[in-house]
Amino acid sequence: MIIRPARNILGSLRLPGDKSISHRYAMLAAIAQGATRLTNFSTGADCASTLGCIRQLGCTVRSEDGRLEIKGRETLAVPADSLDCGNSGSTMRMLSGILAGQEFACDLHGDESLSRRPMARVMLPLRQMGATITSAAGDRPPLHIVGRKLRAIEYAMPVASAQVKSAILFAGLFAKGCTAVEEPYRTRDHSELALRAFGVELEKSRNRISVRGPQKLHAIEARIPGDISSSAFFLCAAALFAESNLVIEGLLLNPTRAALLDVLRMLGCRISVLNLEEQHGELVGAIKLEHGKLGGVTIAGAQSVALIDELPVLAAIAPYTRDGVEIRDAKELRVKESDRIALVARNLRAMGAECEEREDGLRVPGNQSLHGAGIDSGGDHRIAMAFAVAALHAQGESEIRGAEAARISFPEFFEMLEGVVER
Ligand code: S3P
Repeated sequence: MIIRPARNILGSLRLPGDKSISHRYAMLAAIAQGATRLTNFSTGADCASTLGCIRQLGCTVRSEDGRLEIKGRETLAVPADSLDCGNSGSTMRMLSGILAGQEFACDLHGDESLSRRPMARVMLPLRQMGATITSAAGDRPPLHIVGRKLRAIEYAMPVASAQVKSAILFAGLFAKGCTAVEEPYRTRDHSELALRAFGVELEKSRNRISVRGPQKLHAIEARIPGDISSSAFFLCAAALFAESNLVIEGLLLNPTRAALLDVLRMLGCRISVLNLEEQHGELVGAIKLEHGKLGGVTIAGAQSVALIDELPVLAAIAPYTRDGVEIRDAKELRVKESDRIALVARNLRAMGAECEEREDGLRVPGNQSLHGAGIDSGGDHRIAMAFAVAALHAQGESEIRGAEAARISFPEFFEMLEGVVER
């Protein structure tokens, strides 16, 4: 994919459904009574992996004219083959929670990138609940899960991870008694909201969430709000140009996901929120970004957790800020679809930028001019899209190698980007 420099970002967009919510609604629909009907389901390959897995588990999944219908099952079917999670860590980790509570054995595998990702974070708590989870590759996929009647646990998570929290809460639906999770930092709360939407009673106080099992779920009808992590690429692109004017409608604005808006405001962008409403507990609205402008910012602690998926694009535009960007406490970036710290640093340097790579983050000085370059996506969707954005403000063309990785979360990305770029 060749990206040429832009002059401005102008226009109005609606984005495909949020990936995190799509995964959760599909998984909960699979174990709910009745038929769940969803529109604006994520178009990314990751959520297709989740749908593939629940089909393998015996659920009927029908898709017609952008409407998805998932028929839940009282008990899931024993899959004939290993469940294919593709590139999707969310699928493998969150589905493990549901599978831990089914009384059968099954296997889960993923592609080369997923096969490198740590799974001990879900294996340990689910084992404590009584499931057998093993891997021939230490704590990496493939996984072999033998589900059981589970016991409720109290679990203090060592890593702040919404996927781990979700796996435990989902397993808690099948355990007798009160399963509670405590998180070190607040992570996205879509599982809590989705469980309530599907009729589950759940308690929440500060950073402790608990669910009493067993509980039955009931099908829902929902329109999935636009993916806020996908919107980050357009918002950061718009932030690069003083005359930008970009509207994104029907966008997910859940406060546990919207930290990027605060950061862009802190950097000097003017952002307004319109038509705010609530859908199944999720906030949805339109946002308007006018007047791109970039000062400088340090991101650390809870903010790094809240921004974890948006950090690559923030780092990619950091050289164009006035004062630079420092990212700390983001070691998790090293175990995402790629080592995102190493890859961001390598690609920034390829474009002629100076940056300091650290074990848990990056420091990128501001006020730098970059040149177009060959960018290595490393097969990672967010790296491909982040550097397409950086390339819009560079001198000369860039070539994004492995740009097709964008299909993992956002197949329409490059086409939609062209639609709002002014040259
Ligand atoms: C996600 C949680 C995050 C995030 C991932 C999606 C989710 O991962 O990076 O893209 O939907 O729960 P962790 O839970 O590993 O932090």
